[in-house]
This record gives sequence, structure tokens and C-alpha cells, in this order.
Amino acid sequence: MSKHYQKLIKPLVGQFLGWADDRTPHRYLNIATVRGEERVKVAKSLRPQIQDWQPGIWLTLMSQEQICKQTGKRKLKVKQLLTPNQSGIAPSSPQESSLVATESATPTKIQVCQGSSCRRRGSGQICQAMQAYIEAYDLTDRVEIQSVKCLHQCKAAPQAIVTSPASEVLPGKTHYRQIQPDRVAAILAKHFPIKLSSAQAIVTAL
Ligand code: FES
Repeated sequence: MSKHYQKLIKPLVGQFLGWADDRTPHRYLNIATVRGEERVKVAKSLRPQIQDWQPGIWLTLMSQEQICKQTGKRKLKVKQLLTPNQSGIAPSSPQESSLVATESATPTKIQVCQGSSCRRRGSGQICQAMQAYIEAYDLTDRVEIQSVKCLHQCKAAPQAIVTSPASEVLPGKTHYRQIQPDRVAAILAKHFPIKLSSAQAIVTAL
């Protein structure tokens, strides 16, 4: 990537408007978000999974945003589908979905290593992606992110430890190694499962 680009991994929530190209399989989609209509490229490995999507469904995607530091031009690429099931039903927006309540008031602590090896391998991006997910799903009261010094397993950088004392899903400490930013959503979804809205649950059952 050019040094003139800033790269961020963040959730993208909105309504699928249709395809932005005539290719088979489609590579670009249009999505209506709070920023307006966005054109988004879909990673090659994900394209087979989305070709039968119908306009109007709500999507939650993990996207990579590239912003040119010189021109301000912005490009979006879908890196991961945050689908909560295997049915092909797209996930609802955070406003329409709800997180399964499994924890008491004791917050989950996420310690992200910011030692030099982890920083070199992208721990800053991992923090950004975690923060974006937490804000998108309104988890700020339930999760605390801490930057910590070297966890002494630098060969497995970047690393993070999630501690959920009261979780019924994954209680105790879970150590994640060699984390990639596009896996952050999957990691957090394990600790904070997303429930389908009742309308979607009915459609899924049909
Ligand atoms: S720098 Fe992160 S484990 Fe050593």
C-alpha cells in the first residue's frame, strides 16, 4: 500500500441498495449508510456468498477504509460478513439487533499488547477495529480496552487477552495470538453474541 494512504478497519452498517457493476460475480455493491450512499468493493473470497442478496436487507460488514492523505479520496472494501448464522440472512443493524445479555455488570477487559513487536505487526489497527466494533454495538459500558506492555510471547504478535469474569459464554481469560484486524469482529462476536431480530428469526425459520 502506498504510504499516502491511511488504512482503517471498521464496521459498516446500512441497507443494501443493489449492485454497482454488471459483472458475474458482482464485485461492487451500493449500501445506504448514515454517510449516504457508499460504493463498496467486496473481497474475492466473499463474493460467492453474497450474489443472491436482495436490495433492502440490512447489512453489517467489517470493511477496510482507505483514505488518500493527499486527496481525501475514500475507498471501501468488505473484508468480512458479520452474519450471525449460516442461513444467508444478512445481519440486522446494531439498532435493530440486540446483543444476547449474558453478563453481569462486571465489565469485560481486553488487554491489547502494545509492545514493539505487536505494534510493528498492527496492534494499533486491532485497537481501532475493537473500538469501532464496541461503539457500533453499544458495548462501551460492558467492555474496557487496555493497552499493556509486552506479553512475552513476541513470536505470536500481535496479541490480546480478553478477560470476562462473569461471562456465561466464555468465562475467564482467553488469549488471542497473531490477530489480524479483519478477525477482530469474529473474536468479539464470540464474547458478545448477536441475536437476530424477531422478524429475521421468523424468516430464518421458514
Ligand atoms: S510485544 Fe507483544 S508480546 Fe511482546
